[in-house]
Amino acid sequence: MRARTAVIPAAGLGTRFYPVTKAVPKELLPIYDVPALQLVMDEAIGAGADHIVLVSSRVKTPIEKFVTPDPAVVEKVRASGREDLANRLARIGTDVKVTITYQDNPHGLGHAVGCAREVVGDESFMLLLPDELRSGPELLSALADSVQSRGVSAIELLRVPMDKVSAYGVITHVPGAPADGPFDIVGIVEKPKREDAPSDLIIAGRYVCTADIFDKIDRIKPAPNGELQLTDALELQSADSPITGIISTVTRWDTGTPMGWLEAVIDAALSNGDAAAARALLADRLAR
Ligand code: UTP
Repeated sequence: MRARTAVIPAAGLGTRFYPVTKAVPKELLPIYDVPALQLVMDEAIGAGADHIVLVSSRVKTPIEKFVTPDPAVVEKVRASGREDLANRLARIGTDVKVTITYQDNPHGLGHAVGCAREVVGDESFMLLLPDELRSGPELLSALADSVQSRGVSAIELLRVPMDKVSAYGVITHVPGAPADGPFDIVGIVEKPKREDAPSDLIIAGRYVCTADIFDKIDRIKPAPNGELQLTDALELQSADSPITGIISTVTRWDTGTPMGWLEAVIDAALSNGDAAAARALLADRLAR
């Protein structure tokens, strides 16, 4: 069966965005006029998800508030004549089933995904890191199609310059694949030294995992930083039988840092109804 559930882990501390994230979850930062989380949920829905599982933290209550339908606010906006905005507000949390589950302490991405186990059950599921945005659902959809046809997890890959690999999870693949993939992944090493890196292909923030990933998460040990790494669980899966890597061709933004967020906001402003005004504003500022 094709994955219909999308897990979005949003329980991290967001330390790269302190002091903002002391009070505001980074997942809710506006990308021009829409919270990042909404864009990520829309991507999942576009790829075929009908159930979103948010792994949140009990202290990040604005996330719950955002996805909880609020008919009174919708009616107020509708009564003021702003029909389009009312429709947009009415859609949030009602166009898809949303379940919130909690990670009480942020023990890493592997641990966060493990917290979704009961809700997800025995089926393959999409996994989207919400501090990365994509221009559309095509890549996620391709991952879901791959898992449906091959029965093993599929993950998004990026090719990066070798001097950047040591910040990421880097894959080893079966030799002989075409340069643009897909790849049969037989190993993953987290943050290798440049000279030890097995390739220039890194794991990015979109995955479709088969349900046995939960058993693998149960088996992994914390990394030296105390976190349970999802890559360790994927590595165990790839040892059973190669998992699939697909090179991303959609545009991506990393909104986990202030500069990455700014880039996403500028691009969003330049591609919506206010593009002319945004362009004029930027031209004015750059001319000063
Ligand atoms: P990151 O490592 O990028 O986010 O995790 P972070 O830990 O919140 O941010 P920094 O590095 O301290 O600035 C990617 C995604 O996984 C979630 C985060 O909320 C983020 O959306 N995550 C991470 C969890 O839900 N739980 C964790 O234990 C770790």
